[in-house]
Amino acid sequence: MTEVSDQHKKPFLYVVVCASGIAGDVDQLITAAQKQNWDVGVIATPQGLGFMDAAAVEAQTGFPIRSAWRSPGDPRPLPPPDAIAVAPATFNTINKWAAGISDTLALGILCEAYGLGIPTAALPYLNTAQGAHPAYPQSLDRLRGMGVLIGSYGPQRAKAGGGADGFRWEEALELLSPEVSGRARTRET
Ligand SMILES: Cc1cc2nc3c(=O)[nH]c(=O)nc-3n(C[C@H](O)[C@H](O)[C@H](O)COP(=O)(O)O)c2cc1C
Repeated sequence: MTEVSDQHKKPFLYVVVCASGIAGDVDQLITAAQKQNWDVGVIATPQGLGFMDAAAVEAQTGFPIRSAWRSPGDPRPLPPPDAIAVAPATFNTINKWAAGISDTLALGILCEAYGLGIPTAALPYLNTAQGAHPAYPQSLDRLRGMGVLIGSYGPQRAKAGGGADGFRWEEALELLSPEVSGRARTRET
């Protein structure tokens, strides 16, 4: 596998995809990001991998989807991120991230992003029964306190047949925009 340069020219966005029924629509966020001059690499949770068309996502981004840790000594398949968008962010990953649990590659990247100062936005997508658990608002409070930008889409009543009315993928880019504009300019010079 080819080592990816740290000197990647365009700003690089990691899109962390969790195991939600709407994960298959992540191409909408990738398209929106690419239109805004981002290169995009997808990190899927192990469960999230099964919720998307991996081949289509890799064709769209031009980078392999990462889901597991590389072996020691293996080259890094993606450049380091300038920003991270977690979309969709599941109840499970939000609570584990806030608690500092790092048992998936996605969580490892998210837990370290705070210490590395990488701008991070999360778009939760969960149902009202999950959102009623007392851990959930506490997790959001802790993530906000860490500087994570949280999307506006609240827990939805579970619907037979699913559906994602009003979920705006591009909100992740809107949230990140003020955080990254200075960095993107720095890279162009
Ligand atoms: C069809 C299906 C749809 C699901 N959708 C969601 C969802 O939208 N949000 C959520 O928090 N969990 C959802 N779940 C449950 C998660 O997949 C489950 O909690 C999983 O462990 C999350 O793993 P991850 O956070 O590592 O991606 C769904 C499960 C299934 C089977």
